[in-house]
Amino acid sequence: MGRIVVVTSGKGGTGKSTVSAGLAYALSRMGKRILLMDGDAGLRSLDLMLGIGSNTVYDMADIFAGRCEPIKAVYASPVAPNVFVIPAPMSLERLCSPQDMRRLARGLKRYYDVVIVDCPAGVGRGFETAVAAAEQALVVSTPDMVCARDARILSGILAEKDLPARLIINRLRPRKIMDGSMPDIDQIIDESALQLLGVIPDDEMVAVANANGRPLPPDCYAATCFSNIARRFNGEVVPLARLEKMY
Ligand SMILES: Nc1ncnc2c1ncn2[C@@H]1O[C@H](COP(=O)(O)OP(=O)(O)OP(=O)(O)O)[C@@H](O)[C@H]1O
Ligand SMILES: [Mg+2]
Repeated sequence: MGRIVVVTSGKGGTGKSTVSAGLAYALSRMGKRILLMDGDAGLRSLDLMLGIGSNTVYDMADIFAGRCEPIKAVYASPVAPNVFVIPAPMSLERLCSPQDMRRLARGLKRYYDVVIVDCPAGVGRGFETAVAAAEQALVVSTPDMVCARDARILSGILAEKDLPARLIINRLRPRKIMDGSMPDIDQIIDESALQLLGVIPDDEMVAVANANGRPLPPDCYAATCFSNIARRFNGEVVPLARLEKMY
């Protein structure tokens, strides 16, 4: 029976979809079977990031409306074995309800090791739907105090829902931390009031991989960071690399 994890953030554009895809790729390399559910109705992105393209026929709203069997809206990634995606509806009007999401995700989780729900930005209705089925949350923050404070507010909302949450710091710039021009990892952890699961560097290879719908080359440093996050997610103890080794 799989686990359902939601990837979320207080602020938009922190890298939720990037983390959802990167974690899915890393877990699949560990032999896990992953379902990604794109919860960002109207602004979906995982289909492109996973190399599936935009010529899909069915999406999540079609399942809820009874227009197709759930399996018809599950697309296998052509670039990673054992990674599957349910695209979000293209239109915001077709936003799914929290009850729909709970029923679907809980029904599907028996077929996967991990179900990852990619949350839309903010804490509105799309957020409520995306978190509805989750058993745990990953909160993505960039390494700035505004984003970390939003992560803290979000962590309070998740705590009210009894959802255990861990922090991922994305777009870390080790050189900027070392020269004192950006807050360090501990400051972000303190401000967010969340336990750290891992960090991902700001790396143009990440942006290029996203843009081309491909996984990162496995030997690059960002891929190692995703792999470390996936291992910690699975309960392994993996130490954080020293800052000077991160570039
Ligand atoms: N570690 C990184 N290094 C470089 N670029 C990154 C990194 N993480 C994300 N990006 C880029 O930042 C942009 C936003 O990322 P992404 O779409 O994953 O954010 P998001 O939180 O899902 O956004 P939204 O709130 O709109 O759903 C994308 O162009 C992505 O390629
Ligand atoms: Mg996104």
